[in-house]
Amino acid sequence: MIVIAGAAGQVARHLVPLLLEDGERVRGLVRRRDQAAALEAMGAEAALCDLELDEDLGEHVRDATTVIFAAGAGQHSGPERKRTVDLGAALKLIDAATKAGGTRYVMLSSVGAHDAGSLGESRRPYVAAKAEADAALTASGLPFTIVRPGFLNDDGPTGRVEVTTELGRFVAVEPGVRREIPRADVAAVLRECVRRSSTIGLTFEVFAGELPVADAIAGLPER
Ligand SMILES: NC(=O)c1ccc[n+]([C@@H]2O[C@H](COP(=O)([O-])OP(=O)(O)OC[C@H]3O[C@@H](n4cnc5c(N)ncnc54)[C@H](OP(=O)(O)O)[C@@H]3O)[C@@H](O)[C@H]2O)c1
Repeated sequence: MIVIAGAAGQVARHLVPLLLEDGERVRGLVRRRDQAAALEAMGAEAALCDLELDEDLGEHVRDATTVIFAAGAGQHSGPERKRTVDLGAALKLIDAATKAGGTRYVMLSSVGAHDAGSLGESRRPYVAAKAEADAALTASGLPFTIVRPGFLNDDGPTGRVEVTTELGRFVAVEPGVRREIPRADVAAVLRECVRRSSTIGLTFEVFAGELPVADAIAGLPER
C-alpha cells in the first residue's frame, strides 16, 4: 500500500494512475469528499484527513510500504501555512511512518532547499520550511528519498529529465536562470523512485532534460 499525503494535488493527480498502472495499491489522504470520490473513481482508496488539523496520521499509514509527501500550502498562502503544511504536515507523516515501524518515505521537496537562507523574502519561508522538513526526514532514520524539482509547470509529459545529486549546481552555474519541469514528469520521477530501492538515502534535484526518466533515476549514484 502506497499512501500519498496531498493526493488531490496537481502532481499527485498525475502520480496516482502511474502507481495503479504498476499494480500498486494506493491510498490518498484528502480533505474533501469530492476529492475522495475522484480518487476512488480512479481505483485508489481515499482517507479523509486534514493534515494541519489532525494530530495523528497513524491510522492512515499503518499498512503502508511507502508514504509519499506531495502536499503543500500553495503559492497563494502566507508564511504561517508554510509552517503548518510544508513543514508541520511533513513532520506528522515522518512521525506516523516512524511509529509504523520505519516506513519508506518519498518527499516531494523543492530546488533551493540546500541554501534557503540565500533566497529573497518572497520564496524564503516556503523553501526554508521544505529544507527543515527534509532535514528532519534525513535525521529520522527512515528509509528516505528526497526529490527536489525545479519550478513546476503544466506542460505535457515529456518522459525526459535531468537529475543531479550535486545540490545547487545549476543555480551556481546559471545564476538567475529559472529551470522548470512539468508536473507530469515529476510524477514519473516519483513513480520511478517507488520502483527503485536504489534511490533510498538520496536527495536529488530534477529538471526538464533529455534522459528518459528510468535511465536518469537508474544513473543516480547509489548511496
Ligand atoms: N510550484 C512550484 O514551482 C514547486 C516547485 C518545487 C516543488 N514544489 C512542491 O510540489 C508540491 C506539489 O505541487 P502541486 O502543484 O501538486 O501542488 P498543489 O496542487 O497545490 O497540491 C497540494 C495539495 O496539498 C493539499 N493540502 C494542503 N493543505 C492540506 C491539509 N491541511 N490537509 C490535506 N491536504 C492539504 C491540497 O489540498 P486541497 O486541494 O484540499 O487544497 C492540495 O491538493 C508543492 O506543494 C510544493 O511543495 C512546487
